Amino acid sequence: MNLSINGRAVAADVAGATTLLELLRDTLALTGTKRACDIGECGACTVLVDGRPIYACLTLAHACEGQAIRTIEGLGAPGAPHALQEAFVAEDAAQCGFCTPGQLMAAAALLAANADPSDAEVIAALSGNLCRCGTYPKIVRAVRRAAATLRSSADV
Ligand code: FES
Ligand code: FES
Repeated sequence: MNLSINGRAVAADVAGATTLLELLRDTLALTGTKRACDIGECGACTVLVDGRPIYACLTLAHACEGQAIRTIEGLGAPGAPHALQEAFVAEDAAQCGFCTPGQLMAAAALLAANADPSDAEVIAALSGNLCRCGTYPKIVRAVRRAAATLRSSADV
């Protein structure tokens, strides 16, 4: 099948029952997307498909053919982190960091749709992403900090 992952065309031989998470991690070595519950309950595997946050563990790879897949590897680049990544560092929003890629992708989808989310809107948008370390208040602050950064850079 032919895929678009982080803006690059990717061809892969994929069995019918392969999940998008298995394809990303096990075939393409894109291990920034995490596997935790593997049953759609934690959000660690969140990636964007055509801009929508989805659980990669519940999504068949073949269902994504022709759609634009964006993973954490495509959010920023070494030496050029995304504003969300900078804000997570600034707010100390990652403790163990295992949930962080999924939180960041869900937050990226939120900020693409809403440049100035309230606390409640951030909490609602990230409600499908669990953090076992309980850094939720810092995550909310980080998302709002990134939103402010992106708004101010858009004003320039
Ligand atoms: S690993 Fe997919 S929702 Fe938990
Ligand atoms: S920082 Fe550890 S699970 Fe969220």
